[in-house]
Amino acid sequence: MAKEGKRRVRERWTTRLGVILAVAGSAVGLGNFLRFPVQAAENGGGAFMIPYFFAFFLLGIPLCWVEWSMGRYGGQLGRGSAPAIFSAFWKSPVAKYVGTLGVIGPLIIFFYYIYIESWTLGYAVYGIFGKYMGFSTQGELEAFLSQYQGLGEAGTLLPAYIFFLVTFAANFIIIYLGVSRGIERVSKVAMPILAILGLILAVRVLTLATPDMAHPDWNVNNGLGFMWNPNLRMLGNADVWLAAAGQIFFTMSVGMGIILTYSSYLRRKDDVVLSSLSASSANGFMEVIIGGSVVITAACVFFGASETVKIAESGAVNLGFVTMPLIFTKMLGGQFFALIWFALLFIAGITSSISMLQPAIAFMEDELRFSRHKSVGLLALICFVMCQFPILGLKRGLLDDLDFWGGTFLIVLFGLVQVVIFGWVFGMGRGWKELHTGADIRIPRIYRFIIKFVTPTYIAILLVVWFIQESFSVITMDNYPPQDRPYILVLRLILLALFGGFCYLIHYAWKKYPVREETT
Ligand code: ALA
Repeated sequence: MAKEGKRRVRERWTTRLGVILAVAGSAVGLGNFLRFPVQAAENGGGAFMIPYFFAFFLLGIPLCWVEWSMGRYGGQLGRGSAPAIFSAFWKSPVAKYVGTLGVIGPLIIFFYYIYIESWTLGYAVYGIFGKYMGFSTQGELEAFLSQYQGLGEAGTLLPAYIFFLVTFAANFIIIYLGVSRGIERVSKVAMPILAILGLILAVRVLTLATPDMAHPDWNVNNGLGFMWNPNLRMLGNADVWLAAAGQIFFTMSVGMGIILTYSSYLRRKDDVVLSSLSASSANGFMEVIIGGSVVITAACVFFGASETVKIAESGAVNLGFVTMPLIFTKMLGGQFFALIWFALLFIAGITSSISMLQPAIAFMEDELRFSRHKSVGLLALICFVMCQFPILGLKRGLLDDLDFWGGTFLIVLFGLVQVVIFGWVFGMGRGWKELHTGADIRIPRIYRFIIKFVTPTYIAILLVVWFIQESFSVITMDNYPPQDRPYILVLRLILLALFGGFCYLIHYAWKKYPVREETT
């Protein structure tokens, strides 16, 4: 290991499969199995797939290519986080500060994501002991969840907190082990297991018999029909397009700064075009085929279509932690499948959450020249403090607010900045050449036009529509009850302070180590 103050020799991915699985691991997450089914069911069912595929081909794929190639380029200069990579592509003193979004953004997601991930671990362990198998109504399971979250009258947060600590430690151990010994090794084992668990669940759900003879129409066919029959009228609604684009950003882990960092550990001649397509396809498969066939279909089989609408409206957490356990109590072999379901969620979660930490680690190692020890220790401290907000302030909506900033708004904004820097500042000519260095396949030429014009315009429209529709209520916190607003405000001020502190660190790093490799 290099000494403090000296630039470390940067790690590299050991195998091509390893990096593809690591990026797929980052992408396949809670978003695939919980967020996607709710979004699809609420936004037109099969018709949702139209704006979804538009967003996939016009936003997700181009952004992936841009991130993979910008990251690999940065890595050759020994730089693996957005502030440094942006300043290599855009010779302006502002560039590095804009890059802040690509380090703080994924951390904001991490602060709440890991808490939900820890619930999946808790519910997996509870599943082994059959703790929720005795319940028979939605209400009972809702009360159980509230209690687990420390919200119910008799609730105590202790078990949830212990599971959080275990999950937190697991994340940081993997990160401490590093890119190839930690992230790559874990992804190589976890991703095949994840696929097998997903397939087992999908097969189980798709072979369900009609459980309630009083309702013969509650069956798998109608469940799939509910999920996939297109309600084309929904396509006239701008919200459906916003939801589909938001889902693509979240599920593909684009606009987060993660792929930039992951690909900075590639070698100069490593392919990015095909690798990125492979990781994106794996994510799409896990989302549409597995995520799309399990939860909503099962809910329709056990509760019928009209109840499923209400369930989907009650949100992803309810679906995962109330409806699914209830279904398992009614299913033959339910206890086993409950374990599979929560193990699936946990594995999907952890391979994503570790990826949210790596941009900050890369920043500290590459720019501040901290040792691994110091980087991981400092980051663990910051994350530990910040995680207390969604844990203790769940009732006050702090988790939702973090999700809005980290998981909805900043990723779209960062995506726009990134594609503009690539297509306009760096220039499409050089960008195209950079993308194709070492590439195994050629990208259709139409994508030169898409990356330069269509993707930025698409994202800009999304931001304008969002601004018109929602910015006022977000700023005034209208969507929170008045008694919660002071808490939300404090959280937002702390996030701002975090941004400010991070900008200072950038300033410090650039001053302390002024000889930079931008000119290479
Ligand atoms: N891409 C990750 C997910 O879908 C964040 O959960």
